Amino acid sequence: MSIEKIQTASTNSIPDTPPSAEPERQYYYMEKAKQHLARMSAEAGRPLTFCVTTFGCQMNARDSEKLTGILERIGYVEEPDEEKADFVIYNTCTVRENANQRVYGRLGQLGRIKKKKPHMMIALCGCMMQEPHVVEKLKTSYRFVDLIFGTHNIYKFAELLATRMESGRMVIDIWKDTDKIVEDLPVERKYPFKSGVNIMFGCNNFCSYCIVPYVRGRERSRDPKAIIREIERLVADGVVEVMLLGQNVNSYGKTLPEPMTFAQLLEEVEKIDGLERIRFMTSHPKDLSDELIEVMRRSKKICRHLHLPVQSGSSRILQKMNRRYTKEQYLALVDKIKAAVPDISLTTDIIVGFPGETEEDFQETLDVVRKVRYDSAFTFIYSKRSGTPAAVMEDQVPEDVVKDRFNRLLAEVQKISAEVCAVHQGTVQEVLVECRNDHDEHLMTGRMSNNLLVHFPGDESLIGKLVNVRLDECRGFYYIGEIV
Ligand code: SAH
Ligand code: SF4
Ligand code: F3S
Repeated sequence: MSIEKIQTASTNSIPDTPPSAEPERQYYYMEKAKQHLARMSAEAGRPLTFCVTTFGCQMNARDSEKLTGILERIGYVEEPDEEKADFVIYNTCTVRENANQRVYGRLGQLGRIKKKKPHMMIALCGCMMQEPHVVEKLKTSYRFVDLIFGTHNIYKFAELLATRMESGRMVIDIWKDTDKIVEDLPVERKYPFKSGVNIMFGCNNFCSYCIVPYVRGRERSRDPKAIIREIERLVADGVVEVMLLGQNVNSYGKTLPEPMTFAQLLEEVEKIDGLERIRFMTSHPKDLSDELIEVMRRSKKICRHLHLPVQSGSSRILQKMNRRYTKEQYLALVDKIKAAVPDISLTTDIIVGFPGETEEDFQETLDVVRKVRYDSAFTFIYSKRSGTPAAVMEDQVPEDVVKDRFNRLLAEVQKISAEVCAVHQGTVQEVLVECRNDHDEHLMTGRMSNNLLVHFPGDESLIGKLVNVRLDECRGFYYIGEIV
Protein backbone atom coordinates (compact mmCIF):
# COMPACT_ATOMS: atom_id res chain seq x y z
CA MET A 1 0.00 0.00 0.00
CA SER A 2 1.33 3.47 -0.84
CA ILE A 3 1.64 6.15 1.82
CA GLU A 4 -0.95 8.40 0.08
CA LYS A 5 -3.52 5.64 0.23
CA ILE A 6 -2.75 5.10 3.87
CA GLN A 7 -3.26 8.79 4.64
CA THR A 8 -6.60 9.01 2.82
CA ALA A 9 -7.84 6.02 4.75
CA SER A 10 -7.03 7.74 8.02
CA THR A 11 -9.24 10.77 7.35
CA ASN A 12 -12.51 8.79 7.32
CA SER A 13 -14.57 9.38 10.43
CA ILE A 14 -15.76 6.51 12.61
CA PRO A 15 -18.64 6.83 15.12
CA ASP A 16 -17.62 6.99 18.80
CA THR A 17 -19.72 4.08 20.03
CA PRO A 18 -19.11 0.59 18.68
CA PRO A 19 -22.10 -1.58 17.69
CA SER A 20 -22.89 -4.23 20.29
CA ALA A 21 -23.84 -7.00 17.81
CA GLU A 22 -21.27 -9.34 16.23
CA PRO A 23 -19.68 -9.46 13.73
CA GLU A 24 -20.50 -5.74 13.12
CA ARG A 25 -18.63 -4.78 16.28
CA GLN A 26 -15.45 -6.41 15.00
CA TYR A 27 -15.73 -4.68 11.61
CA TYR A 28 -16.00 -1.39 13.50
CA TYR A 29 -12.75 -2.17 15.34
CA MET A 30 -11.06 -3.23 12.11
CA GLU A 31 -11.74 0.30 10.82
CA LYS A 32 -10.34 1.80 14.02
CA ALA A 33 -7.23 -0.36 13.87
CA LYS A 34 -6.87 0.57 10.20
CA GLN A 35 -6.65 4.25 11.14
CA HIS A 36 -4.06 3.57 13.83
CA LEU A 37 -2.06 1.44 11.45
CA ALA A 38 -2.22 4.16 8.78
CA ARG A 39 -0.73 6.61 11.28
CA MET A 40 1.97 4.13 12.32
CA SER A 41 2.81 3.36 8.67
CA ALA A 42 3.04 7.07 7.86
CA GLU A 43 5.49 7.48 10.77
CA ALA A 44 7.55 4.54 9.60
CA GLY A 45 7.37 5.77 5.98
CA ARG A 46 6.41 2.29 4.70
CA PRO A 47 3.63 -0.28 4.98
CA LEU A 48 3.92 -2.34 8.17
CA THR A 49 4.16 -6.12 8.05
CA PHE A 50 2.93 -9.10 10.08
CA CYS A 51 3.83 -12.75 10.55
CA VAL A 52 1.55 -15.36 12.13
CA THR A 53 3.45 -18.42 13.38
CA THR A 54 1.26 -21.45 14.03
CA PHE A 55 1.98 -24.30 16.43
CA GLY A 56 -0.21 -27.39 16.87
CA CYS A 57 -3.12 -28.85 14.97
CA GLN A 58 -5.36 -28.07 11.97
CA MET A 59 -7.74 -26.20 14.25
CA ASN A 60 -4.97 -23.74 15.08
CA ALA A 61 -3.98 -23.50 11.41
CA ARG A 62 -7.55 -22.50 10.57
CA ASP A 63 -7.59 -19.95 13.43
CA SER A 64 -4.39 -18.45 12.02
CA GLU A 65 -6.12 -17.96 8.66
CA LYS A 66 -8.80 -16.01 10.51
CA LEU A 67 -6.17 -13.82 12.20
CA THR A 68 -4.51 -13.27 8.84
CA GLY A 69 -7.83 -12.27 7.24
CA ILE A 70 -8.35 -9.61 9.90
CA LEU A 71 -4.77 -8.31 9.69
CA GLU A 72 -4.93 -7.96 5.91
CA ARG A 73 -8.21 -6.13 6.16
CA ILE A 74 -6.65 -3.71 8.63
CA GLY A 75 -3.88 -3.07 6.10
CA TYR A 76 -0.92 -5.09 7.36
CA VAL A 77 1.18 -6.80 4.68
CA GLU A 78 2.30 -10.43 5.18
CA GLU A 79 6.02 -11.03 5.84
CA PRO A 80 7.00 -14.72 6.02
CA ASP A 81 10.19 -14.08 8.02
CA GLU A 82 9.15 -13.45 11.63
CA GLU A 83 12.44 -11.74 12.43
CA LYS A 84 11.65 -9.02 9.89
CA ALA A 85 7.94 -8.52 10.66
CA ASP A 86 6.62 -5.48 12.55
CA PHE A 87 3.87 -7.52 14.21
CA VAL A 88 4.51 -11.13 15.22
CA ILE A 89 1.70 -13.39 16.45
CA TYR A 90 2.32 -16.80 17.96
CA ASN A 91 -0.73 -19.06 17.82
CA THR A 92 0.33 -21.60 20.42
CA CYS A 93 -0.31 -25.28 21.25
CA THR A 94 0.03 -26.94 24.65
CA VAL A 95 -0.87 -30.56 23.90
CA ARG A 96 2.64 -31.70 24.88
CA GLU A 97 5.24 -29.99 27.05
CA ASN A 98 7.83 -29.64 24.24
CA ALA A 99 5.39 -27.41 22.30
CA ASN A 100 5.46 -24.96 25.24
CA GLN A 101 9.23 -25.00 25.53
CA ARG A 102 9.57 -24.08 21.86
CA VAL A 103 7.35 -21.04 22.36
CA TYR A 104 9.35 -19.73 25.34
CA GLY A 105 12.62 -20.25 23.47
CA ARG A 106 11.52 -18.39 20.37
CA LEU A 107 9.85 -15.67 22.41
CA GLY A 108 13.15 -14.90 24.15
CA GLN A 109 14.75 -14.42 20.73
CA LEU A 110 11.87 -12.14 19.61
CA GLY A 111 12.31 -10.04 22.77
CA ARG A 112 15.92 -9.35 21.79
CA ILE A 113 14.83 -8.26 18.30
CA LYS A 114 12.10 -6.03 19.76
CA LYS A 115 14.66 -4.12 21.83
CA LYS A 116 16.16 -2.86 18.57
CA LYS A 117 12.75 -2.21 16.95
CA PRO A 118 10.68 -0.11 19.38
CA HIS A 119 7.57 0.03 17.16
CA MET A 120 7.42 -3.78 16.91
CA MET A 121 4.43 -5.60 18.46
CA ILE A 122 4.12 -9.18 19.70
CA ALA A 123 0.85 -11.05 20.33
CA LEU A 124 0.34 -14.49 21.85
CA CYS A 125 -2.84 -16.51 21.51
CA GLY A 126 -4.02 -20.11 21.25
CA CYS A 127 -4.24 -23.02 23.65
CA MET A 128 -1.21 -22.24 25.85
CA MET A 129 -2.81 -18.93 26.86
CA GLN A 130 -5.74 -20.79 28.43
CA GLU A 131 -3.42 -22.04 31.17
CA PRO A 132 -3.25 -19.55 34.06
CA HIS A 133 0.38 -20.42 34.97
CA VAL A 134 1.48 -19.53 31.42
CA VAL A 135 -0.11 -16.08 31.55
CA GLU A 136 1.45 -15.50 35.02
CA LYS A 137 4.87 -16.37 33.65
CA LEU A 138 4.41 -14.06 30.66
CA LYS A 139 3.27 -11.21 32.91
CA THR A 140 6.34 -11.47 35.09
CA SER A 141 9.13 -12.59 32.77
CA TYR A 142 8.05 -11.48 29.28
CA ARG A 143 6.80 -7.93 29.82
CA PHE A 144 7.59 -7.00 26.23
CA VAL A 145 4.56 -8.95 24.93
CA ASP A 146 1.83 -6.52 23.75
CA LEU A 147 -1.29 -8.64 23.47
CA ILE A 148 -2.41 -11.93 25.01
CA PHE A 149 -5.73 -13.63 24.27
CA GLY A 150 -7.11 -17.15 24.33
CA THR A 151 -9.03 -19.61 22.19
CA HIS A 152 -12.57 -18.53 23.16
CA ASN A 153 -12.32 -14.87 22.19
CA ILE A 154 -10.21 -15.13 19.04
CA TYR A 155 -13.09 -13.50 17.13
CA LYS A 156 -12.37 -10.35 19.20
CA PHE A 157 -8.86 -10.01 17.79
CA ALA A 158 -9.61 -6.72 15.98
CA GLU A 159 -11.13 -5.18 19.12
CA LEU A 160 -8.19 -6.24 21.30
CA LEU A 161 -5.67 -5.01 18.77
CA ALA A 162 -7.41 -1.63 18.47
CA THR A 163 -7.39 -1.39 22.28
CA ARG A 164 -3.66 -2.12 22.35
CA MET A 165 -2.98 0.47 19.65
CA GLU A 166 -4.97 3.09 21.57
CA SER A 167 -3.70 2.41 25.07
CA GLY A 168 -0.09 1.52 24.28
CA ARG A 169 -0.23 -0.93 27.20
CA MET A 170 -0.11 -4.74 27.45
CA VAL A 171 -3.64 -6.09 26.80
CA ILE A 172 -4.63 -9.45 28.33
CA ASP A 173 -8.05 -10.98 27.72
CA ILE A 174 -8.63 -14.65 28.51
CA TRP A 175 -12.04 -16.30 28.87
CA LYS A 176 -12.64 -19.57 30.71
CA ASP A 177 -15.21 -20.90 28.24
CA THR A 178 -17.85 -19.69 25.83
CA ASP A 179 -20.92 -20.90 24.00
CA LYS A 180 -20.54 -18.15 21.42
CA ILE A 181 -19.75 -18.80 17.74
CA VAL A 182 -19.28 -15.64 15.65
CA GLU A 183 -19.80 -16.12 11.90
CA ASP A 184 -18.74 -14.10 8.86
CA LEU A 185 -15.43 -12.59 9.89
CA PRO A 186 -12.71 -12.15 7.25
CA VAL A 187 -10.39 -15.10 6.60
CA GLU A 188 -7.38 -15.41 4.33
CA ARG A 189 -6.66 -18.96 3.11
CA LYS A 190 -3.17 -20.38 2.86
CA TYR A 191 -4.13 -22.40 -0.25
CA PRO A 192 -6.50 -21.06 -2.94
CA PHE A 193 -7.84 -24.54 -3.80
CA LYS A 194 -8.34 -26.22 -0.43
CA SER A 195 -9.55 -25.13 2.94
CA GLY A 196 -10.26 -26.28 6.46
CA VAL A 197 -13.81 -25.68 7.69
CA ASN A 198 -14.64 -25.78 11.40
CA ILE A 199 -17.74 -27.82 12.08
CA MET A 200 -17.41 -27.87 15.84
CA PHE A 201 -15.31 -26.41 18.60
CA GLY A 202 -14.11 -27.80 21.93
CA CYS A 203 -14.21 -31.34 23.30
CA ASN A 204 -16.21 -33.17 25.96
CA ASN A 205 -14.30 -36.44 26.01
CA PHE A 206 -11.74 -35.77 28.72
CA CYS A 207 -9.29 -38.48 27.74
CA SER A 208 -7.28 -38.64 30.96
CA TYR A 209 -3.95 -37.53 29.41
CA CYS A 210 -5.33 -34.69 27.31
CA ILE A 211 -5.42 -30.96 27.98
CA VAL A 212 -7.55 -30.01 24.96
CA PRO A 213 -10.96 -30.04 26.77
CA TYR A 214 -9.51 -27.63 29.37
CA VAL A 215 -8.08 -25.17 26.85
CA ARG A 216 -10.72 -25.41 24.11
CA GLY A 217 -13.80 -25.66 26.33
CA ARG A 218 -17.02 -27.59 25.90
CA GLU A 219 -18.12 -29.13 22.63
CA ARG A 220 -20.25 -26.83 20.42
CA SER A 221 -21.39 -27.63 16.89
CA ARG A 222 -21.74 -24.96 14.25
CA ASP A 223 -25.11 -24.46 12.62
CA PRO A 224 -25.18 -26.73 9.52
CA LYS A 225 -26.56 -23.89 7.38
CA ALA A 226 -23.57 -21.71 8.28
CA ILE A 227 -21.22 -24.58 7.38
CA ILE A 228 -22.88 -25.18 4.02
CA ARG A 229 -22.95 -21.44 3.26
CA GLU A 230 -19.23 -21.17 4.05
CA ILE A 231 -18.36 -24.13 1.82
CA GLU A 232 -20.51 -22.79 -1.04
CA ARG A 233 -18.65 -19.48 -0.82
CA LEU A 234 -15.31 -21.28 -0.73
CA VAL A 235 -16.23 -23.29 -3.84
CA ALA A 236 -17.32 -20.11 -5.64
CA ASP A 237 -13.86 -18.77 -4.75
CA GLY A 238 -11.99 -21.72 -6.29
CA VAL A 239 -11.85 -24.30 -3.51
CA VAL A 240 -12.22 -27.94 -4.61
CA GLU A 241 -11.29 -29.75 -1.39
CA VAL A 242 -12.48 -29.13 2.16
CA MET A 243 -11.33 -30.61 5.44
CA LEU A 244 -14.10 -30.60 8.03
CA LEU A 245 -12.49 -29.90 11.39
CA GLY A 246 -13.36 -30.86 14.96
CA GLN A 247 -11.73 -32.70 17.88
CA ASN A 248 -14.37 -35.39 17.56
CA VAL A 249 -16.31 -34.93 14.32
CA ASN A 250 -18.29 -38.13 14.93
CA SER A 251 -20.24 -36.46 17.69
CA TYR A 252 -21.15 -33.48 15.49
CA GLY A 253 -24.66 -32.12 15.87
CA LYS A 254 -25.63 -33.74 19.16
CA THR A 255 -26.06 -30.41 20.94
CA LEU A 256 -27.76 -28.49 18.11
CA PRO A 257 -31.32 -27.19 18.68
CA GLU A 258 -32.32 -29.55 15.86
CA PRO A 259 -29.87 -32.43 16.30
CA MET A 260 -28.28 -33.96 13.22
CA THR A 261 -25.55 -36.56 12.77
CA PHE A 262 -22.14 -36.13 11.21
CA ALA A 263 -23.14 -38.57 8.46
CA GLN A 264 -26.15 -36.38 7.62
CA LEU A 265 -23.94 -33.30 7.49
CA LEU A 266 -21.57 -35.11 5.11
CA GLU A 267 -24.49 -35.93 2.82
CA GLU A 268 -25.41 -32.25 2.68
CA VAL A 269 -21.81 -31.23 1.95
CA GLU A 270 -21.61 -33.88 -0.78
CA LYS A 271 -24.47 -32.14 -2.64
CA ILE A 272 -22.47 -28.93 -3.15
CA ASP A 273 -21.78 -28.55 -6.86
CA GLY A 274 -18.18 -27.89 -7.79
CA LEU A 275 -16.81 -29.37 -4.56
CA GLU A 276 -14.65 -32.37 -5.52
CA ARG A 277 -13.19 -33.74 -2.32
CA ILE A 278 -14.21 -33.95 1.32
CA ARG A 279 -11.89 -34.84 4.19
CA PHE A 280 -12.49 -34.72 7.93
CA MET A 281 -10.55 -34.84 11.15
CA THR A 282 -10.57 -36.23 13.83
CA SER A 283 -12.72 -39.33 14.30
CA HIS A 284 -13.04 -40.79 17.76
CA PRO A 285 -13.50 -44.58 17.42
CA LYS A 286 -16.18 -44.71 20.13
CA ASP A 287 -18.54 -42.49 18.10
CA LEU A 288 -17.94 -43.80 14.59
CA SER A 289 -21.36 -44.98 13.42
CA ASP A 290 -22.49 -47.57 10.86
CA GLU A 291 -24.35 -44.71 9.22
CA LEU A 292 -21.05 -42.89 8.65
CA ILE A 293 -19.41 -46.00 7.17
CA GLU A 294 -22.35 -46.37 4.80
CA VAL A 295 -22.15 -42.71 3.73
CA MET A 296 -18.41 -43.10 3.12
CA ARG A 297 -18.97 -46.26 1.10
CA ARG A 298 -21.51 -44.57 -1.18
CA SER A 299 -19.78 -41.22 -1.49
CA LYS A 300 -18.03 -40.04 -4.64
CA LYS A 301 -16.39 -37.12 -2.86
CA ILE A 302 -15.32 -38.32 0.58
CA CYS A 303 -11.62 -39.17 0.38
CA ARG A 304 -10.44 -42.73 0.92
CA HIS A 305 -8.67 -41.82 4.13
CA LEU A 306 -9.67 -42.14 7.76
CA HIS A 307 -7.61 -40.87 10.68
CA LEU A 308 -8.66 -43.09 13.56
CA PRO A 309 -6.50 -42.49 16.65
CA VAL A 310 -6.08 -45.67 18.69
CA GLN A 311 -3.72 -44.20 21.37
CA SER A 312 -2.95 -47.65 22.83
CA GLY A 313 -3.58 -51.30 21.94
CA SER A 314 -4.05 -52.39 25.55
CA SER A 315 -7.66 -52.47 26.78
CA ARG A 316 -6.38 -51.94 30.32
CA ILE A 317 -4.52 -48.75 29.33
CA LEU A 318 -7.40 -47.60 27.10
CA GLN A 319 -9.65 -47.75 30.13
CA LYS A 320 -7.21 -45.68 32.20
CA MET A 321 -7.05 -43.25 29.28
CA ASN A 322 -10.86 -42.94 29.39
CA ARG A 323 -11.08 -43.73 25.67
CA ARG A 324 -14.26 -45.80 26.13
CA TYR A 325 -13.42 -48.62 23.69
CA THR A 326 -11.41 -51.85 24.01
CA LYS A 327 -8.73 -53.25 21.74
CA GLU A 328 -11.26 -55.78 20.42
CA GLN A 329 -13.90 -53.13 19.70
CA TYR A 330 -11.33 -51.02 17.86
CA LEU A 331 -10.16 -53.94 15.73
CA ALA A 332 -13.77 -54.94 14.95
CA LEU A 333 -14.46 -51.36 13.84
CA VAL A 334 -11.42 -51.40 11.57
CA ASP A 335 -12.58 -54.69 10.02
CA LYS A 336 -16.02 -53.23 9.38
CA ILE A 337 -14.58 -50.13 7.69
CA LYS A 338 -12.15 -52.15 5.56
CA ALA A 339 -14.97 -54.46 4.46
CA ALA A 340 -17.17 -51.53 3.41
CA VAL A 341 -14.42 -49.39 1.85
CA PRO A 342 -11.66 -51.78 0.76
CA ASP A 343 -9.34 -49.09 -0.63
CA ILE A 344 -9.45 -47.00 2.57
CA SER A 345 -6.18 -45.72 3.95
CA LEU A 346 -6.04 -45.73 7.74
CA THR A 347 -3.82 -43.53 9.87
CA THR A 348 -3.61 -43.15 13.63
CA ASP A 349 -2.13 -41.50 16.72
CA ILE A 350 -0.35 -43.57 19.36
CA ILE A 351 0.92 -42.56 22.80
CA VAL A 352 3.80 -44.51 24.34
CA GLY A 353 4.56 -44.50 28.05
CA PHE A 354 1.16 -43.66 29.52
CA PRO A 355 1.35 -44.09 33.35
CA GLY A 356 1.35 -47.77 34.30
CA GLU A 357 2.08 -49.03 30.76
CA THR A 358 3.89 -52.38 31.01
CA GLU A 359 5.85 -54.27 28.35
CA GLU A 360 2.75 -56.48 27.87
CA ASP A 361 0.57 -53.42 27.29
CA PHE A 362 3.10 -52.13 24.80
CA GLN A 363 3.10 -55.49 22.99
CA GLU A 364 -0.67 -55.10 22.59
CA THR A 365 -0.06 -51.77 20.87
CA LEU A 366 2.45 -53.40 18.51
CA ASP A 367 -0.12 -56.12 17.86
CA VAL A 368 -2.74 -53.54 16.79
CA VAL A 369 -0.20 -51.85 14.52
CA ARG A 370 0.56 -55.21 12.86
CA LYS A 371 -3.12 -56.14 12.52
CA VAL A 372 -4.42 -52.81 11.18
CA ARG A 373 -1.39 -52.05 8.99
CA TYR A 374 -1.67 -48.27 9.06
CA ASP A 375 -0.62 -46.15 6.10
CA SER A 376 1.03 -43.92 8.66
CA ALA A 377 0.95 -43.28 12.37
CA PHE A 378 1.84 -40.27 14.50
CA THR A 379 3.67 -41.62 17.52
CA PHE A 380 4.02 -39.56 20.69
CA ILE A 381 5.86 -39.94 23.94
CA TYR A 382 3.40 -39.42 26.78
CA SER A 383 3.70 -35.90 28.13
CA LYS A 384 2.41 -35.04 31.58
CA ARG A 385 -0.07 -32.15 31.42
CA SER A 386 -0.81 -30.61 34.80
CA GLY A 387 -4.50 -30.48 35.61
CA THR A 388 -5.30 -33.72 33.75
CA PRO A 389 -6.18 -36.90 35.70
CA ALA A 390 -3.21 -38.84 34.25
CA ALA A 391 -0.71 -36.31 35.63
CA VAL A 392 -1.34 -37.55 39.18
CA MET A 393 -1.50 -41.26 38.34
CA GLU A 394 1.10 -43.50 39.97
CA ASP A 395 3.66 -45.55 38.01
CA GLN A 396 4.84 -42.89 35.60
CA VAL A 397 7.09 -44.89 33.22
CA PRO A 398 10.85 -44.15 33.38
CA GLU A 399 12.20 -42.12 30.48
CA ASP A 400 14.67 -44.71 29.17
CA VAL A 401 11.97 -47.41 29.06
CA VAL A 402 9.63 -45.08 27.15
CA LYS A 403 12.37 -44.09 24.68
CA ASP A 404 13.16 -47.74 23.99
CA ARG A 405 9.48 -48.58 23.38
CA PHE A 406 9.05 -45.48 21.24
CA ASN A 407 11.96 -46.50 18.99
CA ARG A 408 10.66 -50.03 18.60
CA LEU A 409 7.18 -48.74 17.75
CA LEU A 410 8.52 -46.25 15.22
CA ALA A 411 10.56 -48.96 13.45
CA GLU A 412 7.47 -51.20 13.21
CA VAL A 413 5.20 -48.38 12.01
CA GLN A 414 7.71 -47.31 9.35
CA LYS A 415 8.32 -50.84 8.08
CA ILE A 416 4.59 -51.48 7.69
CA SER A 417 3.77 -48.11 6.18
CA ALA A 418 6.48 -48.53 3.53
CA GLU A 419 4.89 -51.89 2.60
CA VAL A 420 1.35 -50.47 2.59
CA CYS A 421 2.38 -47.44 0.56
CA ALA A 422 4.06 -49.59 -2.11
CA VAL A 423 0.89 -51.50 -3.08
CA HIS A 424 -0.24 -48.72 -5.43
CA GLN A 425 2.82 -49.03 -7.68
CA GLY A 426 1.88 -48.94 -11.37
CA THR A 427 -1.72 -47.75 -10.78
CA VAL A 428 -3.21 -44.51 -12.08
CA GLN A 429 -4.62 -42.22 -9.37
CA GLU A 430 -6.48 -38.97 -9.42
CA VAL A 431 -4.42 -36.33 -7.60
CA LEU A 432 -5.03 -32.75 -6.57
CA VAL A 433 -1.99 -30.72 -7.61
CA GLU A 434 -0.88 -28.70 -4.58
CA CYS A 435 2.48 -27.03 -5.18
CA ARG A 436 5.84 -27.05 -6.87
CA ASN A 437 8.24 -29.59 -5.37
CA ASP A 438 10.61 -28.02 -2.80
CA HIS A 439 13.67 -29.94 -3.94
CA ASP A 440 13.23 -30.22 -7.71
CA GLU A 441 11.63 -27.34 -9.60
CA HIS A 442 10.71 -29.52 -12.59
CA LEU A 443 8.36 -31.54 -10.42
CA MET A 444 4.90 -30.74 -9.08
CA THR A 445 3.44 -32.33 -5.94
CA GLY A 446 -0.05 -33.78 -5.81
CA ARG A 447 -2.13 -35.51 -3.16
CA MET A 448 -4.14 -38.65 -3.78
CA SER A 449 -7.54 -39.35 -2.28
CA ASN A 450 -5.80 -41.64 0.25
CA ASN A 451 -3.56 -38.73 1.31
CA LEU A 452 -0.33 -40.09 -0.23
CA LEU A 453 1.87 -37.65 -2.15
CA VAL A 454 3.22 -38.08 -5.67
CA HIS A 455 5.77 -35.92 -7.48
CA PHE A 456 5.62 -35.66 -11.27
CA PRO A 457 6.82 -33.40 -14.11
CA GLY A 458 4.52 -30.42 -14.69
CA ASP A 459 4.16 -26.70 -14.21
CA GLU A 460 2.40 -24.24 -11.95
CA SER A 461 -0.65 -23.90 -14.20
CA LEU A 462 -1.72 -27.29 -12.77
CA ILE A 463 -1.98 -26.09 -9.16
CA GLY A 464 -5.49 -26.62 -7.80
CA LYS A 465 -6.45 -29.00 -10.62
CA LEU A 466 -7.30 -32.69 -10.42
CA VAL A 467 -5.18 -34.77 -12.81
CA ASN A 468 -4.57 -38.48 -13.38
CA VAL A 469 -1.07 -39.61 -12.53
CA ARG A 470 0.57 -43.01 -13.05
CA LEU A 471 2.55 -44.06 -9.97
CA ASP A 472 5.83 -45.28 -11.43
CA GLU A 473 8.13 -45.60 -8.48
CA CYS A 474 7.45 -45.86 -4.76
CA ARG A 475 10.09 -44.18 -2.62
CA GLY A 476 9.07 -45.22 0.87
CA PHE A 477 6.32 -42.77 1.76
CA TYR A 478 5.72 -41.06 -1.57
CA TYR A 479 5.73 -41.78 -5.31
CA ILE A 480 7.38 -40.46 -8.44
CA GLY A 481 4.96 -40.53 -11.36
CA GLU A 482 3.78 -39.07 -14.64
CA ILE A 483 0.54 -37.45 -15.81
CA VAL A 484 -1.39 -39.73 -18.18
N1 SAH B 1 -9.12 -35.03 19.22
C1 SAH B 1 -8.13 -35.84 18.67
C2 SAH B 1 -6.72 -35.56 19.15
C3 SAH B 1 -6.21 -34.20 19.37
S1 SAH B 1 -4.61 -34.11 20.08
C4 SAH B 1 -8.47 -37.28 19.02
O1 SAH B 1 -9.10 -37.56 20.01
O2 SAH B 1 -8.02 -38.13 18.32
C5 SAH B 1 -3.65 -35.02 18.90
C6 SAH B 1 -2.91 -36.18 19.48
O3 SAH B 1 -1.97 -35.77 20.44
C7 SAH B 1 -3.77 -37.20 20.23
O4 SAH B 1 -4.43 -38.07 19.38
C8 SAH B 1 -2.77 -37.89 21.10
O5 SAH B 1 -2.21 -39.00 20.45
C9 SAH B 1 -1.69 -36.85 21.31
N2 SAH B 1 -1.69 -36.37 22.69
C10 SAH B 1 -2.66 -35.71 23.34
N3 SAH B 1 -2.31 -35.48 24.61
C11 SAH B 1 -1.07 -36.02 24.77
C12 SAH B 1 -0.16 -36.13 25.87
N4 SAH B 1 -0.46 -35.64 27.07
N5 SAH B 1 1.03 -36.74 25.66
C13 SAH B 1 1.34 -37.24 24.45
N6 SAH B 1 0.53 -37.18 23.40
C14 SAH B 1 -0.67 -36.58 23.55
FE1 SF4 C 1 -8.13 -34.87 23.66
FE2 SF4 C 1 -9.57 -37.05 23.77
FE3 SF4 C 1 -10.75 -34.74 23.18
FE4 SF4 C 1 -9.11 -35.88 21.43
S1 SF4 C 1 -11.06 -36.70 22.14
S2 SF4 C 1 -9.12 -33.75 22.04
S3 SF4 C 1 -7.57 -36.83 22.73
S4 SF4 C 1 -9.80 -35.31 25.11
FE1 F3S D 1 -2.56 -28.06 20.34
FE2 F3S D 1 -4.70 -26.74 20.92
FE3 F3S D 1 -4.64 -28.19 18.74
S1 F3S D 1 -3.43 -27.79 22.36
S2 F3S D 1 -3.24 -29.83 19.26
S3 F3S D 1 -3.40 -26.45 19.14
S4 F3S D 1 -6.40 -27.85 20.03
